[in-house]
Amino acid sequence: MSLLRHRSAEPLWREEFSVHGADERYVNRRQFAKFLVLTSFGMFVGNLWILVRSWLSGRPAYPLRPVATTDELPVGGVKLFRYPGPEDPCILVRTSETGFAAYSQKCTHLSCAVYYSGEHGRLECPCHEGYFSVASGAVLQGPPQRPLPRVVLQRQGSHLIATGIDLQTEGRA
Ligand code: FES
Repeated sequence: MSLLRHRSAEPLWREEFSVHGADERYVNRRQFAKFLVLTSFGMFVGNLWILVRSWLSGRPAYPLRPVATTDELPVGGVKLFRYPGPEDPCILVRTSETGFAAYSQKCTHLSCAVYYSGEHGRLECPCHEGYFSVASGAVLQGPPQRPLPRVVLQRQGSHLIATGIDLQTEGRA
C-alpha cells in the first residue's frame, strides 16, 4: 500500500521513463562490481604470466627501469635509486668516463646502507667497516661474507637501464 502511494507521488514523467533511481544505483553497483572482478582477473592473469615466465626461465623476472642518463653524473658521482621494488635501495657510481656500476645499497652483513668513498674508491659500510670493491661488489674487508648484489645495467643511447639483479654468490675478493 505504501509502495503504491509512493509511486503515485512521483511525477508522471518518471512512470514513462523506464529506468528508476533505485535501478540506476543498482546498475552502477553492478557495473562497479563487474569492473572490480575484471580488474582483479587482469591482475591475476598478469601475476600468473610473470610467475610462469620466471618459472620457465629458472630465474626471477625483473622490470626494465631507467636509472640515469650517462651525462647526469660526473666521474666519481653517485646516484641513489630503488630497484627492483620501492623498498630496495641501490647505488649507482660513475667509475670512469665510460664506466658505471650499480649495486644494492644493503650491506650483506646486517643490511646497513653502504656509501661510495671517492677517497678510497670503494663502497663502505659504516656499521662494522665492511668494504666492497666498486668494480665488482666483492668484499674487500670486514665481516660481510657475500658480495653486494649487482644491478645489471644496459645502455640505450644516453640512458642507463636497470634490467636485473645479479646476486653474485661468490665469496670474498
Ligand atoms: S652491516 Fe655492514 S659491515 Fe656490518
